[in-house]
Amino acid sequence: MDLKDRRILLGITGGVAAYKACDLARRLQDEGAQVQPILTHGALHFVTPILLQALTGRPAYVELWDERFQGAMGHIVLSRDADALLIAPATAHFIAKLAHGLCDDLLSSVALARQRDRCRLLVAPAMNVEMWQQPATQRNVRTIEADGAAILGPDSGDQACGEVGEGRMLEPLQIVAEVVAAFQPKLLQGRRVLVTAGPTFEAIDPVRGITNRSSGKMGYAIARAAQEAGAEVVLVSGPTALAPPRGVVRHEVTSARQMHEAVLASAASSDVFISVAAVADWRPEQPSMAKMKKSADSEPVQLRFVPNPDILATVAALPSPPLCVGFAAESERLEEHARAKLATKRIALIVANLAQDVLGADDAELMLVGAQSSVTWPRASKIDHARRLIGEIAARLTIRR
Ligand code: C5P
Repeated sequence: MDLKDRRILLGITGGVAAYKACDLARRLQDEGAQVQPILTHGALHFVTPILLQALTGRPAYVELWDERFQGAMGHIVLSRDADALLIAPATAHFIAKLAHGLCDDLLSSVALARQRDRCRLLVAPAMNVEMWQQPATQRNVRTIEADGAAILGPDSGDQACGEVGEGRMLEPLQIVAEVVAAFQPKLLQGRRVLVTAGPTFEAIDPVRGITNRSSGKMGYAIARAAQEAGAEVVLVSGPTALAPPRGVVRHEVTSARQMHEAVLASAASSDVFISVAAVADWRPEQPSMAKMKKSADSEPVQLRFVPNPDILATVAALPSPPLCVGFAAESERLEEHARAKLATKRIALIVANLAQDVLGADDAELMLVGAQSSVTWPRASKIDHARRLIGEIAARLTIRR
């Protein structure tokens, strides 16, 4: 429930993507938001107030001159207790109106009447690629951005008009993620954060290998939380089934040595390195180029393993290392093992958890072990822990400065 009790005005303007705004209204409510729909006359060509009312449980307003509002001041009444005005889809015309402060209908009047420090403006453009790329549109987008609006997207791809290119509205769940991000404190603005996530896979032959169990969920949650906090995030990921969080640069790797190389390419220019990946400690000394065949007599197979580089320890030993945070999945004696790792890897903080408790799960109990402290964070979702960890890291960065 990342939007619990947030009051969101959902402004729908006249683009084909208005049909997706109906689903968006539902998805925002799934996260706990209260959604108040406002439609322009253009939107009425695509969706109806009754549909939006049925989806949100609130009357969908259209008219500036609506007698239902106290003192006939709909634009004031609606905007006063809202936390955000989300316009999705936002047409080129509506963005132009926002850029110039025009207010000839209810939605544009609400946009102009809102209190800027209380009710943020989030705009999800949706239009034909040529309309999006027009200098006039780009100028208007820059203007509203400079005035404080957050521009969500647009995406590129197939368009309803049959053309292909930039201008597609983001998908509803992507917009929800952006709205959630807009409410997070920008604790890492201007910082660079490097995260590793997932397992590594060490080949034995072209079809076999050894790996560690890791879904990547914690590392991806941390990359997302860092991005939400305003950081520039690079995520070096072993094989997982997860989609990268929007706005995060992901490098996909397979083996520990590839992860080592990708991390070292970014580590020196990062402010923070959070090593969440379950890196395989060893790899086969001589992976076979051809598939190893089973022998008829079922003789035991002998494999020799050599240690992989310790990526975290390497980064911590750089001449001027980023703030390094490690993870430790243990099966017992959590704090003792975590303290040992803190010392041998020479890092600032270890986040420890019980492997049997956390692997593949969406929530976990964590123990944070620093040089002079250890604290247990009770069971919570990985994204909640990730946001809290980002808060802890931001505080340590401030002290470090
Ligand atoms: O030594 P151990 O694997 O238990 O330490 C865990 C921490 O060290 C994790 O943060 C993990 O990402 C990191 N690590 C690493 N390179 C390795 C092994 C572990 O970066 N080869």
